[in-house]
Amino acid sequence: MDYILEVKGLTKKFSGLTAVDDLCLNMKKRTIHSLIGPNGSGKSTTINMITGALPITSGTVSYSGEVISGLPMHAVALKGIGRTFQNLKLFSSMTVTENLMVGMHSQLKVGFFQFLASPKAAAAEEKKAREKALEVIHYLGLDQQKDEVVKNLPYGQQKLTELGRSIMTNPKLLFLDEPAAGLNPSERVKFIDVLLKVFADGIDLFLIEHNMDVVMSISNYITVINFGKKIAEGTPKEIQNNEDVITAYLGDKYKRKGGETAC
Ligand SMILES: Nc1ncnc2c1ncn2[C@@H]1O[C@H](COP(=O)(O)OP(=O)(O)O)[C@@H](O)[C@H]1O
Ligand SMILES: [Mg+2]
Repeated sequence: MDYILEVKGLTKKFSGLTAVDDLCLNMKKRTIHSLIGPNGSGKSTTINMITGALPITSGTVSYSGEVISGLPMHAVALKGIGRTFQNLKLFSSMTVTENLMVGMHSQLKVGFFQFLASPKAAAAEEKKAREKALEVIHYLGLDQQKDEVVKNLPYGQQKLTELGRSIMTNPKLLFLDEPAAGLNPSERVKFIDVLLKVFADGIDLFLIEHNMDVVMSISNYITVINFGKKIAEGTPKEIQNNEDVITAYLGDKYKRKGGETAC
């Protein structure tokens, strides 16, 4: 089986709390895979561990057959993995173009050291980053906003800018933490279109999303967690009809039934 991502026994303990508990999941190549679950169920923590933003307590993560757990975030990025954050991490006083250029430098850790070694090479690098930024801006339909300061833009365009920054380094796999949160319905429709375009152009997507319309309409496969444990996985249709999932989302009737699926 051709998996782009294999997660085995992933666990995160924060002092007394097990936020992610022995989680196993496999993501097939060329899919949009969503991770859903109630608030506080461990979704962001899972992504943070997979992308190297947070140390793992135990478990392994493999990307295209190669173990990447234990690598720092920039090394994970260099493998071809991009991400966005649950809370926008843009430089709000900088322009759209500048934010994208920073995305390239911060992910690849070039720029500063290159500047010390060779200012001429750094200038050439800067030019390349700007050209790439303008290419991505055009791709996302943000041409008119390229010189706007980010904080002056509507939220939907800020989210697109963040997406743009995450694709500056040509990732093969992109993690998106609640990309549609806070968007109004028309911004959401536009954002979904852009995500589908990004996917069609070859980037596999791993998505955390609360809006069930978004999840059910664009996912090929869904993993559901509660209290850090996997409680179900399957196609959107299978998940919609899964009683454990329905119960977990309804909340008060939920009782842990030990129905977790194995690795
Ligand atoms: N840095 C941290 N230190 C301590 N507890 C944390 C930390 N990050 C997350 N948690 C806790 O871990 C659990 C899972 O959080 P999170 O992964 O953010 O959930 P989700 O993204 O599903 O809403 C929550 O109980 C949260 O309070
Ligand atoms: Mg979260």
